[in-house]
Amino acid sequence: MKQQLPLQAAPPRRTAAPLNRWPARLDLTQSLTGLALALFMWGHMAFVSTILISRDAMWTVSRFFEGTFFFGRPIPGLVSLVVAVIFALFIVHAALALRKFPINWRQWREMREHTRALKHDDTSLWGWQVVTGYALFFLAPAHLFVMMSRPDRIGPFESADRMWSDHYWPLYLLLLFVVELHGGIGLYRLAVKWGWFQGTDPIAARKRLKTLKWALTAFFLALGLATLVAYVRIGIEHAPLAGQPYVPSHLSNPGVAR
Ligand code: HEM
Repeated sequence: MKQQLPLQAAPPRRTAAPLNRWPARLDLTQSLTGLALALFMWGHMAFVSTILISRDAMWTVSRFFEGTFFFGRPIPGLVSLVVAVIFALFIVHAALALRKFPINWRQWREMREHTRALKHDDTSLWGWQVVTGYALFFLAPAHLFVMMSRPDRIGPFESADRMWSDHYWPLYLLLLFVVELHGGIGLYRLAVKWGWFQGTDPIAARKRLKTLKWALTAFFLALGLATLVAYVRIGIEHAPLAGQPYVPSHLSNPGVAR
């Protein structure tokens, strides 16, 4: 006699879980905002370091961003607008980065032990990026807020007075090291993550990228330090008249060639 098999419920049909694209979207947004901020910092350093060419050069660039040469008068609100955009990018980038921060003591300890045990350059770099990123939470808003609220006080004497007479130089010194390390490591990690400049040999490419990363960081640190020293020297010299704006030579002595 044929044995009857007990009736069994059919196994549930496997349906593929809907693909959640949000982690990828957030990651891409973090990469894009980071890239935009890092590229902005290159332009920013070029603009700020025009003080090394001359005071008139820095004055001209500052008035250019206020639209003086388009509108016939400075409109500092334009600078506030640009700062607001940069501030917004910074906030989005920082918020997205928070997802990857170790969130409690155990995670911090594990990260440190893991980094020590691995002795792997790129893992250590990630640790530095977390530490410098955390410092940026506190350092960058102080600078961005003053740029946004007093855009009319950007210029050779105005900036130098802020550095020296208003005691901003320690903030800038810290910010310079932190942002150059963070930006350099960030760009390197972006290139590795998205496979830029990989060529046919990824290991050799990674080595090349790392050399380029350190060269760029060293260049921008040297440029930044030279710039900082230039503003501080002008600030010391101008301290007795702190608060007085810079008037370029062609406006104070119209007959004298620049
Ligand atoms: C649109 C936004 C920004 C504007 C208009 C701006 C403008 C300036 C100006 C005019 C200075 C000269 C000092 C002064 O006047 O106080 C300066 C210095 C500096 N800024 Fe910014 N900045 C902006 C965004 C940023 C951001 C996002 C960072 C980094 C997170 C940054 C980091 C620095 C550093 C490190 C210095 C010192 C430079 C040096 O010592 O060579 N700035 N910035």
